Amino acid sequence: MLEHSQLAAWIDEKKTLCQPDKVVICDGSTDEYNQMWDLLLTAGVAIKLNEEKRPNSYLIRSDPADVARVESRTFICTETQEQAGPTNNWIHPDEMRETLNGLFQGCMRGRTMYVIPFSMGPVGSPIAHIGIEITDSPYVVTSMHIMTRVGQAVLDELGTDGEFVPCIHSVGVPLANGASDVPWPCNPENLYIAHFPTSREIWSFGSGYGGNALLGKKCFALRIASAMARDEGWLAEHMLILKLTNPEGVSHYVAGAFPSACGKTNLAMLIPTIPGWKVETVGDDICWMKFGDDGRLYAINPEAGFFGVAPGTGIHSNPNAMLSLKENCIFTNVAETDDGDVWWEGMTEEPPSHLIDWKGNDWTPDSSEPAAHPNARFTVSAAQCPVIADEWEDLKGVPISAILFGGRRATVVPLVNEASSWVQGTFFGSIVSSEKTAAAAGTIGELRRDPMAMLPFCGYNMADYWSHWLNIGKRQGVKLPRIYYVNWFRKNAAGEFLWPGFGENSRVLRWIFERCEGRGDAIETPIGNLPTREALDFEGLGLSDETIAELLRVEVDGWLAEIPLIEEYYDKFGDRLPVELSQELANLKSNLENAT
Ligand code: GTP
Ligand code: SPV
Ligand code: MN
Repeated sequence: MLEHSQLAAWIDEKKTLCQPDKVVICDGSTDEYNQMWDLLLTAGVAIKLNEEKRPNSYLIRSDPADVARVESRTFICTETQEQAGPTNNWIHPDEMRETLNGLFQGCMRGRTMYVIPFSMGPVGSPIAHIGIEITDSPYVVTSMHIMTRVGQAVLDELGTDGEFVPCIHSVGVPLANGASDVPWPCNPENLYIAHFPTSREIWSFGSGYGGNALLGKKCFALRIASAMARDEGWLAEHMLILKLTNPEGVSHYVAGAFPSACGKTNLAMLIPTIPGWKVETVGDDICWMKFGDDGRLYAINPEAGFFGVAPGTGIHSNPNAMLSLKENCIFTNVAETDDGDVWWEGMTEEPPSHLIDWKGNDWTPDSSEPAAHPNARFTVSAAQCPVIADEWEDLKGVPISAILFGGRRATVVPLVNEASSWVQGTFFGSIVSSEKTAAAAGTIGELRRDPMAMLPFCGYNMADYWSHWLNIGKRQGVKLPRIYYVNWFRKNAAGEFLWPGFGENSRVLRWIFERCEGRGDAIETPIGNLPTREALDFEGLGLSDETIAELLRVEVDGWLAEIPLIEEYYDKFGDRLPVELSQELANLKSNLENAT
């Protein structure tokens, strides 16, 4: 029996709308998890992996038309288009509701409606929030079990009148009159991922994949939460959280925003190459920060698991991810080996001589297409990460000392630069641009602005979001993190990465740590404070002097060429653009001009 009358009424209403065969309130138990897998195995969409190689783990192959987030079908439904802003797709809430009510009408016929009570963040944390996801996908149920905290404890926390974000999802394929199902039902022709920031609701129709369907993740923890954070004076960000400890045992917590498939999971779990230093993981994708009594920003990872990019993850690039994946995992759209295990590009240097690819076809190294989809993902509990920080579930969160922004930039942007103020840091965040990756449908490699790595995830007008960041900086009596702009992806003329990246990124983290401690040499430049050649440890990397100079170069001409592009971008926001940002841009321009 549900004691929360508003929740009970919402479930009833959606049951009447969707007309499922039955309703199940999920309890988050192992039994329930196993039942879902029985269903998925019977449906022919899941394969149980070899128990000796990968205990208690499954491979799932989605429909090839449903493999990534679809930004063109993601909507922010505010009263006015201005409130959603020029970077979001907008439809009026009344119109969207009408469309959705039409689509959801009878959409769960022949299926079970699962009701998943979930907490984003440790249950009972003052930084956490609760959601309820209704879905007709058993795959979503299994994934939510790993990615969030599901079950009775959440209902207990809700009590009789607690606040929750209602999230409703359907794959959009009703089974009328006993019609037979397909392994991965989806409805890409009628795709809607719709957000109502004012009433704090989410409706998703037509996809069963990742951020389109696991509504706690991007839909709630970023799009809806960013609007909640604006109203309530906190921050909901697309950031990893790591704990960095020096050889003397002193620790700082660092958060970092990089666009999708640009290195958050890798940085969060890195093994430092510099002796005596340690990195531990708090989160790999999303960060919620609220002010503590001491005026510092305290962060939690609202998620309970990792939904990580598989390709490129190997024992050399990210050993801690590989060690996390020993058992109890879900793999989606990776390749299957002949002995019932998984493989993807980058897992080993030499590919196996034969595989079944992500579409279910035979594959050999001579095949022209990759064996795993470029956005193939692993799903695993964060607790399985060998370097998960002890305090990762601390109810009060961890105090953040530094925030990183970054993207994939082959040119112009140096390895690292430090903002000299919160305002300049907000400016750096606002101008991040990055090459598009396979995490979303569309053209890969295309350069686009992705401010604070939030372009696809900000639930309101991006200019108002920047104002919110600036307002955070204006609060009295707060001690704010320092802000950095990093770029691991700079290339030479031959198209090779200049910086080795991965574990070597610890060298940059060390400089940031030292800056937080009031040490670490820097020179003032038009683009903020850059480390001196000596302040960064390049020992043993075998990089030429020219490469090092290139990594730390203030490319005045390149930056000057960016100025009109940034101006053009800012113009989109009209008079909602905060004056502080246009002032920062004007300062940058004149400082660069003076430097020539
Ligand atoms: P989402 O889960 O989509 O938000 O992605 P993410 O930001 O967590 O990215 P992830 O760490 O999964 O990295 C994505 C890709 O970038 C992988 O193929 C990595 O191998 C590659 N990558 C990560 N870090 C580095 C780095 O320091 N240098 C280089 N060259 N590649 C990197
Ligand atoms: C991203 O695209 O940033 C992801 C994967 O983390 S998804 O959950 O699909 O959004
Ligand atoms: Mn992400």
